[in-house]
Amino acid sequence: MSTLPILRLGTVKDVTRFEEHVRSLGLTIPCDHQVIAGTSSPLRQPLERGGMKIGNRIAVQPMEGWDGTADGKPSEHTFERWKKFGRSGAKLIWGGEAVAVCHEGRANPNQLVIGKHTKKGLEELRQTLIAEHKKTMGSDEGLVIGLQLTHSGRYCRPNRHDKPEPKILYHHPILDRKLGLPSDYPLLTDGEIEGILEAFHTAAKIAEELGFDFVDIKHCHGYLGHEFLSAHTREGKFGGTLDNRTRFLREITHAIRLIAPKLAIGVRLSAFDTVAYRPDPAKSENGKLGPGIPEEYSHLIPYRWGFGVDAQQPTEIDLRETMHFLTLLEDLRISLVNLTAGSPYYNPHLQRPALYPPSDGYQPAEDPLISVARQMNVARELKARFPKLIFVGTGYTYLQDHLPNVAQAALREGWTDFVGMGRMVLTYPELLWDTSEGRTIEHKRVCRTFSDCTTAPRKGLPSGCYPLDAYYKNSEYAEKLKAAKAKA
Ligand SMILES: Cc1cc2nc3c(=O)[nH]c(=O)nc-3n(C[C@H](O)[C@H](O)[C@H](O)COP(=O)(O)O)c2cc1C
Ligand code: SF4
Repeated sequence: MSTLPILRLGTVKDVTRFEEHVRSLGLTIPCDHQVIAGTSSPLRQPLERGGMKIGNRIAVQPMEGWDGTADGKPSEHTFERWKKFGRSGAKLIWGGEAVAVCHEGRANPNQLVIGKHTKKGLEELRQTLIAEHKKTMGSDEGLVIGLQLTHSGRYCRPNRHDKPEPKILYHHPILDRKLGLPSDYPLLTDGEIEGILEAFHTAAKIAEELGFDFVDIKHCHGYLGHEFLSAHTREGKFGGTLDNRTRFLREITHAIRLIAPKLAIGVRLSAFDTVAYRPDPAKSENGKLGPGIPEEYSHLIPYRWGFGVDAQQPTEIDLRETMHFLTLLEDLRISLVNLTAGSPYYNPHLQRPALYPPSDGYQPAEDPLISVARQMNVARELKARFPKLIFVGTGYTYLQDHLPNVAQAALREGWTDFVGMGRMVLTYPELLWDTSEGRTIEHKRVCRTFSDCTTAPRKGLPSGCYPLDAYYKNSEYAEKLKAAKAKA
């Protein structure tokens, strides 16, 4: 990494200066000087394919809030967030948030669950989003809403915030150690996996009944679907060959086509990964985390525990298997693909580029713009290789005031089909729609990647934008978060 201090993008108001900075880092990030307003805006072009019409090129990324009830129903906070999703003007709502297919598969005791008992709440969420969308856009024509279905695998914490209950597919030499798992920690059996598959099938059927347009079979961020893809060392029919490692997806897809034929299918994929990172101990002092460095991996070559990584140099990307996976999606007639990377647990800099680390992270391992450019350029490469697939690009929030300029250029130049917004939606959901309408950016509402929305849940609190969103800023939780951070 460069030893130059990281330039705070919040201080770069001028687009020319932003472009100079991108060049000075040796990066390729497309950027338009003028954001086009009106119907000719690249952000506002509809996309029609395979019987699905999506009204514009703005997508809301899935973002859970750790704020459901103990039995997995949405709470008032969940409704607030889904209103934001609707208000954003985005015509593609990718998942809303991760919804567990069963209680044991929850990432936290407040994650939403899909089941008979939560049907009413999930339907109300969808309706609330649509109503809010209509207020902003006048109509819900071209609005496409999916639900992200998940099992949290290695990162299950269904019962208590401070009690991990991992369900693992194989022993991982680095992640097992980080999670404190002994070498005889039990693996999920093939029989238990069959039970999880059943839960996905039932969940998809419910999603269809509730009127969701598609479900995302989540394959990212270290959760179960993603762990299957790297299960090289697992024995039996769910491990080893790529064919076995994708059996999970194929079986769910076949079942959905039979029992929920109206439902489209999407996949959110960590297209590449790297080894786990940790704060550099030599540079961590007085409670301040050091910059991220990779965990020691030299004794683990060839590296057999990753997906989209080079087995000889696992901190480098290798997209060959990712491309085989995308070919499989084409064969399965799955055309909606949301590209992301790595995991928020073991390499957050790759996944959600930020200037300020979450409480369990590390200072930036590199200039966060490098992390943004990496995700964008991988999306560009995959889009060029798979022009028929519909791609959502990720990792744009760190661009801050320049997000609209970059989003427009990325769409115009065909780097991606949709620009997905994650954290920005928590603080300034209308950013892209407003700029495509010719409105001036409200700088005070721009996400500055303070990471409180990630830190809060790590402390057992609802996720939200504590620094900038009035809803959380003045809530009881803001005090609790302050106290938890001070204690740490
Ligand atoms: C608070 C929070 C919750 C998230 N929850 C999910 C989730 O439920 N499912 C998912 O696939 N990604 C989740 N993500 C990742 C985002 O969808 C997105 O990939 C990431 O924030 C990077 O995009 P951004 O730069 O626009 O924020 C979450 C991110 C944040 C900050
Ligand atoms: S807390 Fe708010 S400003 Fe900070 S990263 Fe999250 S959304 Fe952005």
